[in-house]
Amino acid sequence: MSSYWLNSVKDKPSFTTLNKNISTDVCIVGAGIFGLTCGYYLSKQGFKVVILDKNDICQKVSGHTTAKITSQHNLIYKYLVDSLGIKYAKQYLDANQEAISNIKNIIDNENIDCDFEIQDSYIYTTNENEVNEIQLENKTVNTLGLNSEFVTTSALPFKIKGAIKFPNQAQFNPLKYAVGLANAITKNSGEIYTNTAVYDIKKNGHEFLTHTQDNCISSKYIILASHYPFINAPGYYFLKMYQSTSYLIAVDIGDKTFNGMYINPQSPIFSYRFANYNDKKVLLVGGADHKTGSKIDLSNAYSILENEVKKFYPKSTVLYRWNTQDCITLDKIPYIGEFSNLMSNMYIGTGFNKWGMTSSNVAANIIVDNISGKTNKFEDVFKSTRFHPIKNSEEFGNMIKETTNSLIINKFKVPQQRLKSIQHDSGVVLEIDNEKIGIYKDKDGKLFAVKPICTHLGCLLSWNNIDKTWDCPCHGSRFDYMGKNLYNPAIKDLEIIEIDCTN
Ligand code: FES
Repeated sequence: MSSYWLNSVKDKPSFTTLNKNISTDVCIVGAGIFGLTCGYYLSKQGFKVVILDKNDICQKVSGHTTAKITSQHNLIYKYLVDSLGIKYAKQYLDANQEAISNIKNIIDNENIDCDFEIQDSYIYTTNENEVNEIQLENKTVNTLGLNSEFVTTSALPFKIKGAIKFPNQAQFNPLKYAVGLANAITKNSGEIYTNTAVYDIKKNGHEFLTHTQDNCISSKYIILASHYPFINAPGYYFLKMYQSTSYLIAVDIGDKTFNGMYINPQSPIFSYRFANYNDKKVLLVGGADHKTGSKIDLSNAYSILENEVKKFYPKSTVLYRWNTQDCITLDKIPYIGEFSNLMSNMYIGTGFNKWGMTSSNVAANIIVDNISGKTNKFEDVFKSTRFHPIKNSEEFGNMIKETTNSLIINKFKVPQQRLKSIQHDSGVVLEIDNEKIGIYKDKDGKLFAVKPICTHLGCLLSWNNIDKTWDCPCHGSRFDYMGKNLYNPAIKDLEIIEIDCTN
């Protein structure tokens, strides 16, 4: 799992691990682009800011994205008008359009060299049956005030039946942008601590106490910017979101480059854009999405993308392969604002639905305005404490069913037999005497066993043989083969089991 972005920046600033108790105005948990953008705006306004991350900056979703900066979030605007009305649909569009300008302003003001380029963005189809839907979306977007266009040709290396074009969107290198934000934050006296995992947050009178392994940060405000919230209640975001994994490859196709950013609306989804790579451009192709933790064969995920590219560029070379996972909300709108009506001064931005570049800027502006005592003109549609009737009732039903199916009543035993039947370099859940144990056998035959129960809410984990991880089908937490927690909402590692190999 090697993201091109993470490999593209060699001179990243380094940060230290927190080793003392401190107090601050705002404590931000998570140093992805959302957390850093909050830190940037707040530190610029003179707030004392501390940002914590259990890894380095931008190592998770922000470092694995396609990094398209666009208000074109698949075919969402007709859906928003139909479900919430024109006012909220327009708020959503205007907020994301403004985010593009905001990001450009940050880049200009801070002189961030991050390969920012204005590009048009397209949702295209090669399927005649989808043309009508795209035309309707175009009419809706025009009604909301954006000059989008329905087109029937594109620069893609294959014929399309139609596309909706959003002009003057953008793309960049997210790691270079994040480094620029981090440098600006420290210049404004903000503090960033990496390799500093947060285990608990408690309210103590008017302040929050954020606990790391050995230290505590006291603050008036908290911003949860750690992708999927790890606090279950109040808030109950685990009932409103799931996670989706998607795959990306960076491909050298020679000098046959073209302009634009592209995605199609229905499965199988393919997303395209170019990125700067040394002195040339490489094509980024994304797709093969699935719900994280699904019990499906993942072995073809990258080859689906590679085979698609080979159709048009048979001599192309794949340089990088990586995957990412996004929080998907059931009503397709991010949750931005107060974490809960019961918890004032704690804020959240999550559920960016694969469109985190603009959504993270929208979220940062709304939350920073809230902390500064201002009303943000876009906040209503994203309100994190909203209650809309759930439109996506099918997925809600699936989530409840998956959670119920996967809940296991604790306990398991060390296996006595059947270890030989496990193939090398693969993992299985063995059921022995009605109890479950997750075992990975590496290439050399070494065994690693864990209790395959998610430390978030106790669902049974699935083995992911691409990344050698244990993935949760309920809300998308992931753990490495030794049980180390990689992705929220779980924050604790899996229990490790010692195997007695004597049968
Ligand atoms: Fe919620 Fe696993 S992520 S139970």
